[in-house]
Amino acid sequence: MSTDFPGGRQRLSVDGHPVDVTDGATLLDAVRAAGLAIPTLCHDDRLSTVASCRTCLVEVAGRGLAAACSTPAQDGLVIAVEASRPDRRAALEAIVAGLPPKALDAYQGGPEADRSELARECAEYGVHAPAGAVLLPVRGIDHSHPYVKLDRDLCIACGRCVRACAEIQGTFALTLVGRGAGTVVAPGTGGPWAESDCVSCGACVDTCPTGALSEPGLLDLQRTTSEQAPSEQAPSEQAPSEQAPSEQRTTTCGYCGVGCTLEVATRGSSIMTVKPAMNGSLNRGHACVKGRFAHGFLNSAERLSTPLIRRNGTLTPATWDEAIGFVAGRLTAVRDADPDGFALISSARATNEENYLAQKFARAVMGTNNVDNCSRLCHAPSATGLAAAFGLGGGTNPFDDLDACDAILLVGANPTAAHPVVGSRIFQRVMGGARLVVVDPRRTYLARHADVHLRPRPGTNVAVFNGLAHVLVREGMTDSAFLAAHATGYKELRGLLEDYPPDRVAAISGVPAEDLVQAARLYGQAAAPAIFYGLGVTEHLHGTDGVRTLSNLAVLRGAVGPGGGGGVNPLRGQNNVQGASDMGALPDLLPGYQKVGDPAARHRCAAAWQAEVPARPGLRTPQMFAAARSGALQALWIIGEDVLTTDPDSTAVRAALEACPLVICNDLFLSDTAAAADVVFPVAAWLEKEGTFVNFDRRFQRVREAVVPPAGVRTDFAVLHAVADRMGAGLGCESPADAMAECAAVAPLFGGVTHSRLDREGPLHWPCGSPDSPGTPRLYEDGFATPDGLAHLAARPYLPPGEECDGEFPFLLITGRRAEHYNSGSMTRRTANLRLLGRETVDVGPGDAAALGVGDGDAVRVASRHGEAVLQVKISDDVEPGQVFAGFHFPGAAVNGLTSPVGDEATGCPEYKVTAVRLAASSRSAGGGPSR
Ligand code: FES
Repeated sequence: MSTDFPGGRQRLSVDGHPVDVTDGATLLDAVRAAGLAIPTLCHDDRLSTVASCRTCLVEVAGRGLAAACSTPAQDGLVIAVEASRPDRRAALEAIVAGLPPKALDAYQGGPEADRSELARECAEYGVHAPAGAVLLPVRGIDHSHPYVKLDRDLCIACGRCVRACAEIQGTFALTLVGRGAGTVVAPGTGGPWAESDCVSCGACVDTCPTGALSEPGLLDLQRTTSEQAPSEQAPSEQAPSEQAPSEQRTTTCGYCGVGCTLEVATRGSSIMTVKPAMNGSLNRGHACVKGRFAHGFLNSAERLSTPLIRRNGTLTPATWDEAIGFVAGRLTAVRDADPDGFALISSARATNEENYLAQKFARAVMGTNNVDNCSRLCHAPSATGLAAAFGLGGGTNPFDDLDACDAILLVGANPTAAHPVVGSRIFQRVMGGARLVVVDPRRTYLARHADVHLRPRPGTNVAVFNGLAHVLVREGMTDSAFLAAHATGYKELRGLLEDYPPDRVAAISGVPAEDLVQAARLYGQAAAPAIFYGLGVTEHLHGTDGVRTLSNLAVLRGAVGPGGGGGVNPLRGQNNVQGASDMGALPDLLPGYQKVGDPAARHRCAAAWQAEVPARPGLRTPQMFAAARSGALQALWIIGEDVLTTDPDSTAVRAALEACPLVICNDLFLSDTAAAADVVFPVAAWLEKEGTFVNFDRRFQRVREAVVPPAGVRTDFAVLHAVADRMGAGLGCESPADAMAECAAVAPLFGGVTHSRLDREGPLHWPCGSPDSPGTPRLYEDGFATPDGLAHLAARPYLPPGEECDGEFPFLLITGRRAEHYNSGSMTRRTANLRLLGRETVDVGPGDAAALGVGDGDAVRVASRHGEAVLQVKISDDVEPGQVFAGFHFPGAAVNGLTSPVGDEATGCPEYKVTAVRLAASSRSAGGGPSR
């Protein structure tokens, strides 16, 4: 047999057949390359190898038995797989001898029959449970957690779950305890699983080869949720019933902007399990507590199932015909009087096709550009800032470029909570050797693992970014060739940066000068640095300046576009907030970011829509509310947003809804906003409809109907069609696929995107201008998309935030997300996630709590210049002294009654991250519990 195989490959013989594998491969790879399969009970390709179970033994000529999973494949080795079958069988028998019979029969014929690798391999090898009574210790079951059940008697101590928790999720919640045959997995904190550090991602369940870790079945569900309110007892929420799932559909997660690919197993109209797709283009077999488990809201008893019309001050049930007719009649009157008397807030949770139809309804049916979406509240500064810097309003690089990065600058983002799969992949990369700089006022999970953690006072980002740029220039860490060839504005920027030496930046931001220098060096000296950022950059009075000055760093370093590197990448918040903007649900931009002021673009749309497109930009969301309060707005249609919970200064938002003569709301539930509306349409959720989403790295992905909507419920797509039809102005594009095709025809950026192509080829990154374009995962490799083809550096000075603390309001409130809940919480609060986090809190540092005389769980009155709320205290060293943090997932907490109406100068994005407040112990009970 040849031992001379060039090109870094090895040639082996496997059962007499020559097999070629690459350098670094194992005997297991060679066995698989030969088309053979062997048991691998302690092995998962995604995890490090421990080689402890011996079920993968193969015979190596001249060497004897070897564990295939851990033995390097060397040129010339001769492997006997079939002949070593008895040895693998013996290893399986040894494992089974220590297990109760249910280890082999627990899943036989059940929905998880394919999931127990042990049972499957024993069936393959003819291994049976030991005959006769075997006295085994009964180690018991941990039922404490809503989504993870531990049957200790089925544990074979392979450690896959422990490694999955550490190496995939990055949480280190699990360990192996005990000795010898008594070894078993356990939470590292001791005690019940529910009280451990587990973040409920499900990675341990997915890798467990025996069923020791599983999703609770129906019997368990009845036991563990017996104390929950009826609306939380979603029978389909947890996994198996008695029978196998009848169907499986692949879709894209409807929580957050990561865009995880999920496999949904259904039986009839019920979801049995939702699991991460192992071939998911971004998630690679991983998911989080929301995407993996939080689907029980679909069956909530609180789900709306009939339209509602306000009659004599009360929302009362109506037929669809009545509701459609009522809305169509009122909107016709509004349009005929003044098209700009109408406004529409489209939904970042809805599909692209629904957003496309919504903006088309506003423009082609109503004749106004008054359409916006919640990117106004989060990443509008990204779209504006990135477009000004580079030419297009999206992130510059595919997320997979992370794998090649050697330094990560993570700014104003806590992906561990808000984008958990991204957080896990960043953590994996850091464990793999990349250096990490975190810029965040809070000590987040990733900040605890960072090489440098900068904690600027909220509102001082621009000073910090200018300070980092100052160090890059001062210490010669700029790429002068790149700047000369691909950038403009360097001279002006260099002049400005003279005013931002580290000492001055330290005085402004509180970031120690030496830390700033160290951070700049880590970024500046890396071969392939990447920037990821979140709402901590954008949700400021000077949010667009933040994006511009952060982008400066990548340009100075030559780490974007033609310079290579990891670029500048916003972590978009909601599942389809990128897509909602892409589709033109913006007051100044048509589909594909074409300006409404561009006659050619308007003409293109008008020709397709058979309707004139107004040239004057419409109202932004805050301007819509202001117009309503002033009496200028006659009708407001809000699709899938609970603006009374999520928008800032909710007192003023409520005044707007009360002042507007007609408020229409599409929602799954009677949210606070729906309850304040005049007409409510009950609509379908993301698991119940067809279409596409665009994730944070510009990836079009298919959304598929896994289950049909409940009786009486329609999609947003169908509702828009029905109202338009009743108004005598058909919207065309009868199906979501038709809508995508029409969008592709009017928006050159998406010209090659179709449903059939996505079904056939998988995700496509825009720009994708033609059917033969492969899409553009990495932007600007051949030059920037600005009119002059250059990256534009921005010389922006630091300016103070809109809100400042003073003697009356001495604390600074930061708002953001918690891992267990999503946005207004309307979906996750109606799942067992409520057992994981049951109420909103305000996080207060230990020193501040002591000075205030409050402890964990005490009620505290939080007052701002705009409102007040009573919240429960959670003492946390995540926050700096003088700063507090709260989420906004519980409407009863009224956190957005505290935040200010101040918005980004360029885009109007609210300054959520900077609210001056005072705190005082309260005798009132705290709001923000599960009741709302
Ligand atoms: Fe190789 Fe366990 S899979 S020793």
